[in-house]
Amino acid sequence: MEKKKRASFGSKLGFLAAAVGSAVGLGNIWRFPYELGQNGGFAFLIVYLLCAFLIGWPLMLSEFAVGRMGQSNVSSSFANIIGNKRWNWIGIMGAVCVLLVIGFYAVVCGWSLEYIYQAITNQFSGQSPQELSDSFSSFTTGTWRPILWLILFLVINCAIVVGGVQEGIERTSKVLMPFLFTIIVVLCIRSISLPGGLEGLKFLFSPDFSKITPSVVLSAMGQAFFSLSLGMGCMLTYGSYMRKENHLGKTAFEVVGMDSLISILCAMTIFPAVFALGIDPSKGPELVFITLPNVFNQMPGGYFWGILFFILLAIAALTSTISMLEVITAYVSEEWKLNRKATAIGTTVLIALLAIGCSLSMGVWNEYTVLGMNLFDLFDNFTAKILMPIGGIAISIFFGWIVDRKSREAELTNEGVLKLKYLKFYTFLLKYIVPLAILAVFADQLI
Ligand code: TRP
Repeated sequence: MEKKKRASFGSKLGFLAAAVGSAVGLGNIWRFPYELGQNGGFAFLIVYLLCAFLIGWPLMLSEFAVGRMGQSNVSSSFANIIGNKRWNWIGIMGAVCVLLVIGFYAVVCGWSLEYIYQAITNQFSGQSPQELSDSFSSFTTGTWRPILWLILFLVINCAIVVGGVQEGIERTSKVLMPFLFTIIVVLCIRSISLPGGLEGLKFLFSPDFSKITPSVVLSAMGQAFFSLSLGMGCMLTYGSYMRKENHLGKTAFEVVGMDSLISILCAMTIFPAVFALGIDPSKGPELVFITLPNVFNQMPGGYFWGILFFILLAIAALTSTISMLEVITAYVSEEWKLNRKATAIGTTVLIALLAIGCSLSMGVWNEYTVLGMNLFDLFDNFTAKILMPIGGIAISIFFGWIVDRKSREAELTNEGVLKLKYLKFYTFLLKYIVPLAILAVFADQLI
């Protein structure tokens, strides 16, 4: 049989849209603002940016490079580079990790659809903060509603991935990402211009470095990994569809920059509104689903802004779940020589089962716990605190130490075409700083 040419992204911009789409997700809109609120505002932001650029960037660049060099999925890429299968376990672990992440992630994606529906049918209006909170918990602990929404979400997700890399993923990202960016800028301006909104900006940008503790550093690094889709081969898989002439280092820098910018814009949207209305900023995961509907209720034109916000949330989530499904679909269909469409559908069914389990674990199944956690929290903690750090360390050791210097530099410089001023700095970060920093955080967590 003739060897089929591997799919690739059609253009640089298309690739950028897809990679930023993978990075920008619930991590930026839902998780970043509450982590920031709980961990002291500006100090957290600074630590976060350091993690994103000094650990996230070299790691993302390495994932891109391993993917493009190996020209295969999350597992075989390693074997294609060094000629033996000794490192393929990283990819298998990555695929399993992605499966668990999307299992709990899809539940929150489903919530975003429910909240679009509630916003359109004007259900927030007239509810007191207590009622909003009660209706959120009765919805999330319910049985059928969250399941139906998450299935709908996964079906849309599957349809896009079935379309293929260029026709499905790239095309969707190119339409949705500019739209997402526009919505977030508009919402941000609206929020800051609320009377009293500037107080929120003051909270965000007043440094209180006494707040920086080891646990804050830990949260910031975990957040950087999650937000940049690192440590489980997502960026590796996308990298394998990159063209030989693309500038990997620059692209990775752009993705890290855009992702951080969007996280900051989200925080600059949420906090001014929260402060303008005198609501406690240090709320946890319910910040987006309880606090914000309350904000929309009190805001002129809140009906419209509420719809826009939850559409933003769903779009951001979708471009991330696409990248997760692609990792598994590429892996299974290439390794087991299965049809891509059938694989995507089969994987979606499996994901739906896991996600249904996670959803029920918040309600009727909440008495079943492991280590005191329900399934949702277990998947979240196990992937973020164990699998992703191991994956990150493994990729940095592989590309920094196992791959020889000449091949590494040839890949990074496009066979010597690019002159990279940062090559030494990058190599230093990759070989020493990245694995040691992750190891430190990892060890700290285990203790
Ligand atoms: N980065 C996405 C977010 O911020 C989530 C995500 C997509 C992800 N792909 C991933 C997280 C791979 C970890 C690994 O929401």
